[in-house]
Amino acid sequence: MKRTRKAIISIAAGGSQERLLQQIRKRGFAAIGVDRNRKATGFKYCDARVVASTHYAASVIKKLEKLKSSWDFSGIVVQSSGEATVTAAKVARHFDLRYVAPDVADIVVHKDRLMKELHKRGVPAPKAAVISKGARIKIGFPPPYFVKPSLSFRSHSGMSVVESAAELQSAVRCAIAESSEGKANVEQFIHGVDILTIDWVSDGKLTHVATIEELNSGPPHYYGLGWRIPANRAAEEAAAQLQKRYIKALGIDNALVETAMKYDGKRARMYEGGLDLGGDGVPEVLLPMSIRYDLIDNGISLAVENSPQVPTARPIPTYLRFLLRSDIKKGGKNIYTRIRTRFGGARVDFKGLIDSMDNETRAGAVVFRAKTVTALRKRTDAFEKWLKDL
Ligand SMILES: Nc1ncnc2c1ncn2[C@@H]1O[C@H](COP(=O)(O)OP(=O)(O)OP(=O)(O)O)[C@@H](O)[C@H]1O
Ligand SMILES: [Mg+2]
Repeated sequence: MKRTRKAIISIAAGGSQERLLQQIRKRGFAAIGVDRNRKATGFKYCDARVVASTHYAASVIKKLEKLKSSWDFSGIVVQSSGEATVTAAKVARHFDLRYVAPDVADIVVHKDRLMKELHKRGVPAPKAAVISKGARIKIGFPPPYFVKPSLSFRSHSGMSVVESAAELQSAVRCAIAESSEGKANVEQFIHGVDILTIDWVSDGKLTHVATIEELNSGPPHYYGLGWRIPANRAAEEAAAQLQKRYIKALGIDNALVETAMKYDGKRARMYEGGLDLGGDGVPEVLLPMSIRYDLIDNGISLAVENSPQVPTARPIPTYLRFLLRSDIKKGGKNIYTRIRTRFGGARVDFKGLIDSMDNETRAGAVVFRAKTVTALRKRTDAFEKWLKDL
């Protein structure tokens, strides 16, 4: 019998997946990249390339079928949200690889379906109505509302808070314009801090990685601005309970489960889920610097039937802050030197940072660390005030 080399398939092979692809090779596997862009920068780390859209599983499967006799498909990884996650699940099902079922992925990435299923299955979530393009707007609960695309082209875009029914129509129009399926979620507006809990599920067994706080610019745009760890203890406990209920209710068996929720001081409610390996500086910067944890490497382990590691380090209080193009314009060319000398924040650079949101772009990032949560808070509060007053 012909001996073939063990290979791992990565759904997407762009700049954001370069590290993942390099790491697949470092672990001794061949890397098979799938990307619709034949010039995708991650292809240089691939042993085989599949040029096909990560949004259409059928053509990805067809092209992979042609490679099947040359490689031993041993696992699949996805570090890209939205439809790529669903494609990964369909490819996994077709080639009998370890990942979640396609219908589970489909629910999680479409926020219209996700909200309905969470309610149906008793997982705490904001009330939500879904409005399709051209449909009459009728909401069965009172404002304030949070309006967003059900599945967006770009993250943190087309979102708004609506205080009265009169503003609803234009908010829904903006959300639909950013929505790849022509649908908007009109959700009950929930106050509180944004918590992201990150857990492995491996054959149904949970391994907690971290609970972090998400920072955003608040109204009107809700741009994602970064992350803080550790999260408040009470929030962490509420988030852990919700995460368990959600994983069980949806039957998630093998994936990294990143779940975003609001914690209002009493309870947590879920508004977004992810089943891919994440990004936004979390695997690249935040987790290695705060808990010395390599999410990507553990993702490869999970894909090839090994158990991910349990993190052992207590978090070093860490604050990862993206700088917007407008911040850098205000702060001038030497902004990083000023941040370092005044607040001890170090510049960080990672692939996949540039992310356009409405009319803004993330243009850089800085990271702050301190011995205690209080010391970190003091420094980052002073930094935020300085940045605002620039
Ligand atoms: N129902 C809600 N009530 C209050 N605030 C919300 C609600 N839903 C979302 N938000 C706020 O808006 C931010 C962005 O929302 P969400 O996480 O759903 O979108 P996103 O991360 O931009 O999504 P994607 O990456 O899929 O485009 C959240 O971090 C949260 O602060
Ligand atoms: Mg989010």
